[in-house]
Amino acid sequence: MVEHRFGGEHTELKLDVLGAYLDFYCNALKNQRFETWYIDGFAGTGFRQQTEMTGGIFDNEPIAFKEKTLLGSASIALNVDPPFDHYRFVEAHGPRRAALNELCDAAGARDCAIQGGDANDYIQKILADPPWSQHRDQWRQRAVVFLDPYGMSVKWQTLKALAESERADVWYLFNIKAVNQQMARDSARIDSSKFLALQEQFGTADWQTAFYRSGPTQGTLFGDTAPSSSKVATPEQISHFMRERLSTLFRYVSDPLPLTVGNMDRYFELYCLSNSPSPQAIALIKKGVTDIIRKRAQDRRQQGLP
Ligand SMILES: C[S@@+](CC[C@H](N)C(=O)[O-])C[C@H]1O[C@@H](n2cnc3c(N)ncnc32)[C@H](O)[C@@H]1O
Repeated sequence: MVEHRFGGEHTELKLDVLGAYLDFYCNALKNQRFETWYIDGFAGTGFRQQTEMTGGIFDNEPIAFKEKTLLGSASIALNVDPPFDHYRFVEAHGPRRAALNELCDAAGARDCAIQGGDANDYIQKILADPPWSQHRDQWRQRAVVFLDPYGMSVKWQTLKALAESERADVWYLFNIKAVNQQMARDSARIDSSKFLALQEQFGTADWQTAFYRSGPTQGTLFGDTAPSSSKVATPEQISHFMRERLSTLFRYVSDPLPLTVGNMDRYFELYCLSNSPSPQAIALIKKGVTDIIRKRAQDRRQQGLP
């Protein structure tokens, strides 16, 4: 087995919400004339490995470490009943793709394909080609797209293409911590690669005015002057800005589900996005997402989890 170690408690919540939505979606669409697609842009291996610590003073047991293998997004999607008509997994890492191949073979899914390279390129291409475009059955194509990158790899252009398709429900993991780290305290210290990465993330350069405030012009060693501006962004402001940006593309932007890591309560946020032109479809998606998130929140409160 190809090991893939990532995430923690927040990953379980994220994947639990995704699984519940896939179930809701496939059942809602099962008697309709749509062709359903599950597209996983950052698919991993289908599993994730985690080391768990047991014992300690509260359990009155010696500390021990136990290896656990948990389901990843690809396995969860392949287990949905009724299944999707088409599965597409994009994964940049070769050995992980080999693991996905085995998973697809074992699942016996009707149409399952694994793709290397960059998720952005693939998703934009699939939406531009038949049967999604230039095809008499394009109206039948419907997708759930899961965008679960490590950092800031989802490009604005990809979100735009998904919104313009008007036929994809997108689950998007927004990494606030990664965005925050790209922004130096002094704007003059943001190099061009970071600047471009932030622009790709938000689809605008306006993040500068939202997150920086100009200070007095400072003299430099060479006797001339350079403008200075300091970061004023908080995780809450970054969250708010992203939500507004997403609302420029999608008719429905869910309340973000905050995913806590350690003591940082806004490390990641999980969004559900849809740009369906049908108010009935949007109302149904909204109800499905709200019910799923409310139920998880209740369960977690009962278990004493954040
Ligand atoms: C957080 S993991 C995804 C985990 C997966 N969703 C799951 O639940 O098991 C991110 C994955 O994206 C892959 N990756 C990174 N950059 C990528 C890119 N630009 N396009 C496609 N895959 C990429 C990594 O190799 C990694 O396996």
